[in-house]
Amino acid sequence: MRHVLVDLDRRRAEAAAGGGERRVAAQHAKGKLTARERIELLLDPGSFEEYDTFVEHRSVDFGMEKTRIPGDGVVTGWGTVNGRAVVVFSKDFTVFGGSLSETHAGKITKVQDLAMKIRAPIIGLFDAGGARIQEGVAALGGYGEVFRRNAEASGVIPQISVIMGPCAGGDVYSPAMTDFIVMVRDTSYMFVTGPDVVKTVTNESVSAEDLGGARVHTTRSSIADMAFDDDVEALLQVRRLVDFLPANNRAGVPEWPSFDDVERREDALDTLVPENPNTPYDIKELVAKVVDEGDLFEIQGAFARNIVTGFARIGGRTVGVVANQPLVLAGVLDSDASRKAARFVRFCDSFEIPILTIVDVPGFLPGTAQEYGGLIKHGAKLLFAYSQATVPMVTVITRKAFGGAYDVMASKHVGADVNYAWPTAQIAVMGAKGAVEIIFRQDIGDPGKIAGRTRDYEERFLSPFVAAERGYIDEVIRPRSTRRRVARAFAMLRSKAAEKPWRKHDNIPL
Ligand code: HXC
Repeated sequence: MRHVLVDLDRRRAEAAAGGGERRVAAQHAKGKLTARERIELLLDPGSFEEYDTFVEHRSVDFGMEKTRIPGDGVVTGWGTVNGRAVVVFSKDFTVFGGSLSETHAGKITKVQDLAMKIRAPIIGLFDAGGARIQEGVAALGGYGEVFRRNAEASGVIPQISVIMGPCAGGDVYSPAMTDFIVMVRDTSYMFVTGPDVVKTVTNESVSAEDLGGARVHTTRSSIADMAFDDDVEALLQVRRLVDFLPANNRAGVPEWPSFDDVERREDALDTLVPENPNTPYDIKELVAKVVDEGDLFEIQGAFARNIVTGFARIGGRTVGVVANQPLVLAGVLDSDASRKAARFVRFCDSFEIPILTIVDVPGFLPGTAQEYGGLIKHGAKLLFAYSQATVPMVTVITRKAFGGAYDVMASKHVGADVNYAWPTAQIAVMGAKGAVEIIFRQDIGDPGKIAGRTRDYEERFLSPFVAAERGYIDEVIRPRSTRRRVARAFAMLRSKAAEKPWRKHDNIPL
């Protein structure tokens, strides 16, 4: 028996060594951790159960039969994050550059199937050079199997991808189909084709960082949802993200002990909105005062900053927050903001996460760039997402809610359950200046008349009361009582039941 156990230990040690000391040292020299070190940080200490430690590739082409490394470039299994089960796979760059072979793919699909069986989140850590070149179509087939499972799991279990090194070729499409992509600054990059191919095909010279680094993907392409300075920070933040998420689409949001009184009154909110309607203020200040312990976990915080999306808790339970940000472009809705918020609303609705919407929006952004860029379709995505959502939805209008954007931003008409307005709210087709110049065009040459008309318009329409008279607003509330009102509304809505007619699936304007 002893020699059997010694043999097991030897085999395990061999697998744990990955591509060997030299390659592990090279990995560390780049500021990156190894696949196993990352798993250790991501999961609760000692909770990792590894699967398929001894799987090896079966390729015999190009001398591959001589180089078999147990584990075949990916470490897979499951463990816990703050006591809750998650399934993981972590690509090992020290083994054939983390490239995907048929057996490597088989290890991933096995844990994808496990995650679906136990309805637990799956987290993939990427650090890889794409398809195992020596395996040809067997590797491509392997990718296809992974992709199909990503699509199948979408909306059933949360899927998170963490990019911690190269992520090229076939490796990009699995993350792209998951719910969240996290990157590490300076050491990770994602692209379909790398700088060399770009140079050959388009004659453009571009570095890997400029083509697909964290800055590009968090600020321009919006492929990545967030980026952190190093592996350790990224993995700790993923743990935080997991804490906000339900295990699956049926589990309901997790409930953590809350030490923040839901009755907390915030007098500062009574003076948050400046007197001048064109003066901006930071909507995140409001969010911080309303949610538990001021804790907002932002999603896509560096992209389309005119809208804020993220997770927070109220009374210890997760809510998704969507809020126009007056500090950036006056909080206007443009194509990027609409897409960003639409995807977030869809995620929340898929996983039964209630949505808190905070509105201060002057409308949609005018201009050829927006119209040519498909503003109509992108705006429709957000409208569609809210209209389809059946989760509890609470909306607070703090100031402007103009035009189509009023409808879109979780108005009662598209299905929000509880709609509050602050007394500073202005709910109208447009602002006073634009409105008067259109309906009283004949008076434009007469400043006195225009001033009077503007005053009339402001008095009549730039308040929450016209909407409140119609019941479009359930109540005009004191700003300082917002946390209490919102918390009570969400508590009341916990038993909300909503059914949609049968259909195969909807046809959201993509
Ligand atoms: C097999 C690979 C590999 C691959 C890297 N390696 N990529 N082995 N298949 N795809 C191996 C290298 O031979 C090397 O082995 C080790 O991994 C480390 O690679 P280096 O090049 O030394 O590392 P680095 O300089 O850091 O460069 C990393 C890299 C580069 C940028 C990822 O390796 C690279 O460009 N690789 C090829 C990327 C690629 O074109 N992949 C195919 C994409 S097509 P040793 O033994 O020396 O340690 C694709 C199609 C799928 O994926 C489409 C499905 C939709």
